[in-house]
Amino acid sequence: MTLTTTLDIPLLADPADVAADPSRYRVLTGDRPTGPLHLGHYFGTLLNRVRLQRQGVETFLVVADYQVITDRLSPGEIAANVREVVLDNLAAGIDPDRTTVFAHSAVPALNQLLLPFLSLTTVAELQRNPTVKDEAAASGLASISGLLLTYPVHQAADILFCHGNLVPVGDDQLPHVEQTRTIARRFNERYAGGRAVFGEPQALLSPAPRLLGVDGRKMSKSRGNAIALKATADETARLIRRSVTDARRDITYDPAERPGVSSLVEVAALCLGVAPEEVATQVGAGGSALLKALVTEVVNEELRPVRERRAAFAAEPGLVRSLLADGAERASALAESTLTEVQDALGMSAY
Ligand code: TRP
Repeated sequence: MTLTTTLDIPLLADPADVAADPSRYRVLTGDRPTGPLHLGHYFGTLLNRVRLQRQGVETFLVVADYQVITDRLSPGEIAANVREVVLDNLAAGIDPDRTTVFAHSAVPALNQLLLPFLSLTTVAELQRNPTVKDEAAASGLASISGLLLTYPVHQAADILFCHGNLVPVGDDQLPHVEQTRTIARRFNERYAGGRAVFGEPQALLSPAPRLLGVDGRKMSKSRGNAIALKATADETARLIRRSVTDARRDITYDPAERPGVSSLVEVAALCLGVAPEEVATQVGAGGSALLKALVTEVVNEELRPVRERRAAFAAEPGLVRSLLADGAERASALAESTLTEVQDALGMSAY
């Protein structure tokens, strides 16, 4: 009997290890199709994904359509939103020849992994998951659905169906990666006699800070405070013009005391590839008018090629549909083989 040897793999991956040996890693990451992706996604996850893909790490990208109905009463414009999310990823540089892009709903065997994985998860673990709690509070709904409570387990199925071992995420997703590691460990112990059917995935934290929306709150599609990748240059200018700053004339970088100003400074710094302090010093006495003019210019400059590529992809008829069909076929083959391993371990293949 092989004992699990994965116990000492740290939760957080070291980017230097990934760059040194990309072939040891398989990335699984995803987006909820609730609307077009924005600048926060771009700096927080998309660029990271594209960098990993370019390093040669095999990548799976789930369009988490079933996750849309976790925290709202209806799926909304889901077909249009799936298309937006795929186009945004392509525009950012995701290459469907190198990255498998698929939707949850098209890969039944992945979803079936939810059942054995739920058996390895306690209700108490789910109830104390801080991200689930935050999302439940933010949803404005009077009660939490069973799907909202259990979606971290569904996310474990996303990661483990393809034996993904690297999950690039923002820190809000860390509890889910931990839950996935717990499920992998328990599966091996309880159902596989200690054999390492599943490894323990690692999270790769985004190097970029979390951006605020133009109203000073967390940037989010549903709050209408986000600069969408697909927005026009004029829409971008308008949004930045109305962004919340403060009464002080000079510009400094002080995220704790001056969140609005500092977030704008961060956006400019990310686009320019310099430290935020440098941007703040340069703008200095120019005040928020100059800062906003600078941010508008550099954001539009940064997104210009992304928007051009996006428009070109959007104009190709059938592109998104055929890419999702190919991705679903590849993902299904893997999911079925993993489900067979799982059913073998459970003794369910013997009858
Ligand atoms: N919950 C993630 C988000 O809201 C999307 C997602 C779904 C995901 N499945 C995943 C992320 C698996 C990482 C791994 O952004």
